[in-house]
Amino acid sequence: MVNLSVQLAPKHPRGLLLTNPVMTASGTFGYGTEYSHMFDIQKLGAIVCKGTTLEPRNGNPQPRLAETAGGLLNSIGLENIGINALIEEKAPIWASWHVPVIVNIAGETVGDYTRLASQLDGVAGISGLEVNISCPNIKAGGAEFGANPDSAAEVTAAVRQATSLPVLVKLTPDTSDIAGVALAVAEAGADAISLINTLKGMAIDITKRSPLLGNITGGLSGPAIKPVALYMVYEVAGAVDLPVIGCGGITTASDALEFIMAGASAIQVGTASFTDPRAPLDVLEGIEQFMKKEGIEDIAELIGVAQR
Ligand SMILES: Cc1cc2nc3c(=O)[nH]c(=O)nc-3n(C[C@H](O)[C@H](O)[C@H](O)COP(=O)(O)O)c2cc1C
Repeated sequence: MVNLSVQLAPKHPRGLLLTNPVMTASGTFGYGTEYSHMFDIQKLGAIVCKGTTLEPRNGNPQPRLAETAGGLLNSIGLENIGINALIEEKAPIWASWHVPVIVNIAGETVGDYTRLASQLDGVAGISGLEVNISCPNIKAGGAEFGANPDSAAEVTAAVRQATSLPVLVKLTPDTSDIAGVALAVAEAGADAISLINTLKGMAIDITKRSPLLGNITGGLSGPAIKPVALYMVYEVAGAVDLPVIGCGGITTASDALEFIMAGASAIQVGTASFTDPRAPLDVLEGIEQFMKKEGIEDIAELIGVAQR
């Protein structure tokens, strides 16, 4: 037996203990319910649901997806059912699950984040919040908050005040100072830091001579962004005394192990679930096999071993 459990909120009174470090990335695994008939999702470390806003959203105009070399561009624009439906319809299902569910929240103002956080506080079935200050696909808020340390800290402090739940803050790579943003977020009371969200990009339809996505720009994800994400995780894990959750292009167990060795306490599988919905479970099984083969008894022995 190997010990895969990780503590994602060591400074939080209740903590956020996962049985293993494999999570799903927000927006790529719905509410978890959509996948429960495909494999035993209860085996995962945690599920992060689709980004949730105060009101339901229809998202951006079509087309909203475009494949790129080694990646995917999306401009979904936070289409979601809204917080009331989430509390009434999804949370009661999650409350019967063994796997913890973390709700990803997104707002246009600091007040939106505060309201979302306080409404979700104490709701059975919700184990933590992931604060999305990194969505590139909405007109106001989103990545603007995550781009600089002051605004990132302001949102984090407001959410911290509004909830007793563990607070994960998800950073955008679209900043010139990722470690500075991470330090500010840590100081403002985050329990853990997730990174990265998608990188802003675009594609052009040459026959129509116009941008391919209805929103013109979108967020790039998938294997194409893995080296960028890995570097940023390495940088943040070396700078901040909080658990880091690595995300960006993780498709296989060896990708996940790279992030863990760079300093991630847990990882999220995103775009890979679109090509193979079982990808998170395969990643988990592969990590376990690697540990057995290498004679590693505890995942803690691997976290950050590549830091120099
Ligand atoms: C279709 C799609 C929708 C996404 N929606 C969200 C979202 O609602 N909230 C969020 O924080 N991240 C969202 N993301 C970003 C992912 O959670 C993840 O950070 C990013 O895709 C990088 O990981 P990957 O390369 O493994 O997909 C979305 C990504 C995709 C591809």
